[in-house]
Amino acid sequence: MLITDEEQSILDGEGGEGRQWAMELLVGLGNIFGAEDLVPIGSAQLAGVSYKTIGEAGLNWLRDISRISVVSVPSMLNPAGMDPNRWEEMGVPEAFAAKQRSILRAYNRMGVELTCTCTPYLIGRSPAFGEHVAWSESNAVSYCNSVLGARTNREGGPSALAAAIVGKTPRYGLHMPRNRVPTAVVRVDPGETNVDYGALGVLVGRELGNAIPYFHGIRPTQDELKTLGAAMAASGAIPLFHVTDITPEAKAGLAPEPGLEGLSVGPEQLADATRSLSTTIKEQDVDLITLGCPHLSIDELEEVAEFLRGKRKRADAPDLWLCTSKEVRKRAPEAVKIIEEFGKVLVDTCMVVAPIEEVASITATNSGKAATYLPLDAFCSQKVLYRSTPMLLSLMVEE
Ligand code: F3S
Repeated sequence: MLITDEEQSILDGEGGEGRQWAMELLVGLGNIFGAEDLVPIGSAQLAGVSYKTIGEAGLNWLRDISRISVVSVPSMLNPAGMDPNRWEEMGVPEAFAAKQRSILRAYNRMGVELTCTCTPYLIGRSPAFGEHVAWSESNAVSYCNSVLGARTNREGGPSALAAAIVGKTPRYGLHMPRNRVPTAVVRVDPGETNVDYGALGVLVGRELGNAIPYFHGIRPTQDELKTLGAAMAASGAIPLFHVTDITPEAKAGLAPEPGLEGLSVGPEQLADATRSLSTTIKEQDVDLITLGCPHLSIDELEEVAEFLRGKRKRADAPDLWLCTSKEVRKRAPEAVKIIEEFGKVLVDTCMVVAPIEEVASITATNSGKAATYLPLDAFCSQKVLYRSTPMLLSLMVEE
């Protein structure tokens, strides 16, 4: 990999210990993946924030690195393990909360913004078309590449942090136009039914693994694009997709090679995928209903409020968590007021990275991504009921 004189001096330690560590990591990665050089980035989005996911080893490592490092480009965080102000209401143990605060302090010492959202693109942190960035949360990566047309590989926590410190990332993978072309065609014919984008994404991710799909036959909204990308990245490892006439590279003329094969999806496959996401069908046993994976947009919050407006909460309703960013919550005060009569609009956290297993064993969700992760023992050990938003909200209200 080509190294400039300035980069070499950082490697030699002239920029300090923190920059030397970061540069060593980036050059090592670049050499493994055959990168041409390091490319400057506009921003970094860092995963590895919840104490639940990084544990004591991760916290100790962050403490050490934060004493010798500072970021050099705008850098944001993924959701943490709790809402900073409502962790007690969430049932988060005090010991966990103390560890979580230490993690946030370590990031803050390095100059990282405590945004704590997986949808930074909803709060004005969107890179421009063609801009290089180093983002790490899988739905954010998918949206960044597919819907914004910016360029990022799916970074791990340490590699995104190293990129944030140096302000560069190795130029390989999705930073190269030749690696952004479709590798499979997906033809969707939903028949008379509405497309369930969470189920569609889970199905495509399971079938195509890490392909770059090019979709025909769908016209998703911005929120549905985020749902679709999140689900494909969770059930498979798809970091980029194109939709004919919708996503920017497809609109700019990028098209599949003639004869490229892939997948045909009809109403039956969609219905099967939807069914497969529930591991229980007992609506009456649900402990917790969760919406907001990925974090909710203002439109999504307002849709929930519209459904609940004027209704009464059932006496035996389960708990309700809506997960979003601080900024979105702040910008939708009327919706939040209505929803808070039924449940909690939580910020900076989500149902997967919070210690949800402390308060629930059966969780309902409308998210293909959450329904993929919630049952896993390594994450949340939940039984899952997968339903549409109106169906879930109808469990909250009197008939
Ligand atoms: Fe975001 Fe948590 Fe889902 S990080 S995409 S809400 S698992």
